[in-house]
Amino acid sequence: MKPTRASLLLPILMVVLAACGGDHPMTTLEAHSDLTREINHIYGRIFWWTALLFILVQGGLIYTVLRFRAKGNETTNPEQVHGNLKLELTWTILPIFILLHIAIPTVSLIFKSQAPSTEEGSVTINALGEQWWFAFEYPELGVVTANEMHIPLGKEVEVRLQSDNVIHSFWVPQLAAKRDMMPGRVNQIKFKAEKLGEFYGQCAEYCGDSHALMRFRVIVDTPEDFAKWVEAQKAPADTEAATAKAGFEAFQGAGCVACHAIRGTTAAAVIGPDLTHIGSRTMIASGILENNAENLKKWIMDPTEVKPGSKMLDLNLTDEQATSITAYLQTLK
Ligand code: CUA
Repeated sequence: MKPTRASLLLPILMVVLAACGGDHPMTTLEAHSDLTREINHIYGRIFWWTALLFILVQGGLIYTVLRFRAKGNETTNPEQVHGNLKLELTWTILPIFILLHIAIPTVSLIFKSQAPSTEEGSVTINALGEQWWFAFEYPELGVVTANEMHIPLGKEVEVRLQSDNVIHSFWVPQLAAKRDMMPGRVNQIKFKAEKLGEFYGQCAEYCGDSHALMRFRVIVDTPEDFAKWVEAQKAPADTEAATAKAGFEAFQGAGCVACHAIRGTTAAAVIGPDLTHIGSRTMIASGILENNAENLKKWIMDPTEVKPGSKMLDLNLTDEQATSITAYLQTLK
């Protein structure tokens, strides 16, 4: 049977309509902070003004084509004209106003969002772009973590963006716009979350092999839960338990201490993520694997398989070593 035009249209329609439903954690159209709400407001304004211009211009074009088309019985050629000062001035000056209408709110929001926070109770976070993960440090609270940034609901958060390697870009579509993390300078982004929950972040500047796998999460807690989280994260790792002693020995023996810190132990290197409370994170390997024993073991046994180009070394761990290190890391809540 020959396919009809309508039957060809069906699969296209299905693909297009599939974009309308479901859960889209990376959509920029859902705003859950003061900053993204203001961005969407500007975006909406630009959209409707340009829609109006589109209708006016296309309407004029269609009208002209229909009204003045050749009917086949013309006896003379149309009058030839050259230049029209009034029209040319109009279509030069009018777009200037349209562009100013877009530029002024856009640029002022950029400046506003990078000004230091002056609000009482605001939280400052130093975010460092690494290849390929994010380090988060809360200088006033004494917390160091990686790839999962907890923030309190309704409080201003000032994130200072830095890099000591290549350029990355900090992007949390529903909470914060994209802003670059540049070596040699500190960029800032300020926002206030308006919804509890977990939000997806992603590096948005091509930075090497595993750029696409450089992800993170922002977890918006109630102020009470946030305070609890800070208390738990500030504490050093429990080193007294017998399992902790044996686990740390395996960790040290395998050479993990050369790159990682576990506060409360002798491991204090700052090359890789701080692991003091890795057991409390929901994801590992910078937001690409759920934090469970199976994934953790797979990750430490073969990092480059999970994350191409990973700077985490393949230490040729035996199965036994990997099992005990995994068990130990999981206890670090
Ligand atoms: Cu970091 Cu892309």
